[in-house]
Amino acid sequence: MARLVKLNATGPVKVEPSDKPIFVCACGLSKKFPFCDGTHKTCRDEAEGQTLVYDENGQRREAPRA
Ligand code: FES
Repeated sequence: MARLVKLNATGPVKVEPSDKPIFVCACGLSKKFPFCDGTHKTCRDEAEGQTLVYDENGQRREAPRA
């Protein structure tokens, strides 16, 4: 089963449950999900208004328009 999820966050959510913060992935691309592993950096050059699909190797392509 595959699932397409539309996300627009380009960085993590910082959570501070104690003295050491935790960074939770909000871009959906982390290989250590739910924790941020820095992969969100690949989102930095996404153009506004584009819908992109990332494959398991981190390669992206523009999603076909519905
Ligand atoms: S927010 Fe997803 S990898 Fe950092």
